[in-house]
Amino acid sequence: MASAAPVITDVSYTDLLEDPYPVFKRVRDTAPAVFVAAANLTLVTRFDDIMSIERDPATYSSDNPASLVNKVMGPTFMRKDGAAHATGRKAIEPSFRPGTIKEHWAPKFTEICERLIGALREAGEADLFSALAAPMASLSLMEMIGFKAMPWQTLAEWSQSLIDGAGNYARDAEIDRKAMEAGAGIDAAIEAVLDHHRANPNPSILSSMVHADPPMPIEEMRANIKVIIGGGLNEPRDAILTLTLGLLENSAQKESVLARPELWPTAFEEAIRWISPIGMYPRRVTRPVDLAGVALPEGVQIGLCVGAANRDDRRFTEPDRFDMFRPKQSHLAFGAGAHFCAGTWVSRQTVGRIVVPMLFERLSNLRLRDDAPPVIRGWVFRGPVSLPVRWDA
Ligand code: HEM
Repeated sequence: MASAAPVITDVSYTDLLEDPYPVFKRVRDTAPAVFVAAANLTLVTRFDDIMSIERDPATYSSDNPASLVNKVMGPTFMRKDGAAHATGRKAIEPSFRPGTIKEHWAPKFTEICERLIGALREAGEADLFSALAAPMASLSLMEMIGFKAMPWQTLAEWSQSLIDGAGNYARDAEIDRKAMEAGAGIDAAIEAVLDHHRANPNPSILSSMVHADPPMPIEEMRANIKVIIGGGLNEPRDAILTLTLGLLENSAQKESVLARPELWPTAFEEAIRWISPIGMYPRRVTRPVDLAGVALPEGVQIGLCVGAANRDDRRFTEPDRFDMFRPKQSHLAFGAGAHFCAGTWVSRQTVGRIVVPMLFERLSNLRLRDDAPPVIRGWVFRGPVSLPVRWDA
């Protein structure tokens, strides 16, 4: 008979933020689902369990009327199931087609990257978070959405305010205020370009939305653009930094990929397996169910820890190591099932084929600084928040 999820109370939120991997391992070794008090959530951490959950959306729903994402951003397809999800997803799909990425986005993103790296070259040192990864992710997302040009910091701040608002379980008034302010800024930025996209069909996401059949209603457009800003900026930024860090810490692998550029895609996949930019996303249990021997009651929220599943030693040997030569195995960094990340191919192209290869090619003898080590943080979203480097100017 299935038993209730075990409970872990002696882990703090700071433990999760600073280094979630020991906690993830403990949860993985304890049971298929464990309530972790610091997260106020039942966490699922084993690879096979997450795969089986993602195959059964009727039992493990993305739809949660009480979710803060819905409150802060509005009715988004990312938090719907079935036909309601598929309609929204289909509407944005033309902007994410492999052909569109190759012919339209790749040249634009190459240009942005050349500009950012060109401006850095003489300096000889920088923190790659603010000098490259954050502006790159912001400026390319701005292009993809179809916004008018604005400072990269504006989109980055909106993104952070929305993320903070969606995670504001303590209902801090200031966090709510900032999230609302970001939402209003985004609504105004959409309004400013909608007529242009209506009159001039183009590959941007807003254009895809207004020209979809049927066109996406304005309220959904606003919500989905907010989800894309909240969820399409951090991850490529963090993936750029994580892949760079993995290579800088492992010089033999770095030499291999520089000598054989066809290895870049493999290096990219290993980086996001190693430190997954999205560590956890939620699902709601719709009926009492037995998850591999653990009884989950109807209505409970569970957190699918893909960051933990990607280090599950039942699937990956020595999972804590960055090793691009490990036996090829699929990972869960982009999720699975119906909600598999819409931005997968554009991220593979931008991070793994444009930004990080150009960085190593243009900045010679790129290296970490002994006096300023990288800082990595987060568990729901995780990545380097500071990556100081030097090169030969
Ligand atoms: C390395 C970069 C990225 C990673 C690791 C990543 C990861 C993920 C994950 C794990 C999900 C599933 C969330 C869930 O099921 O609740 C997701 C969904 C999504 N991602 Fe990404 N993402 C990345 C980049 C992007 C980019 C650049 C965009 C947009 C420009 C984007 C747009 C989306 C959208 C729209 C969804 C919702 C899909 C749906 O519900 O059908 N992502 N992403």
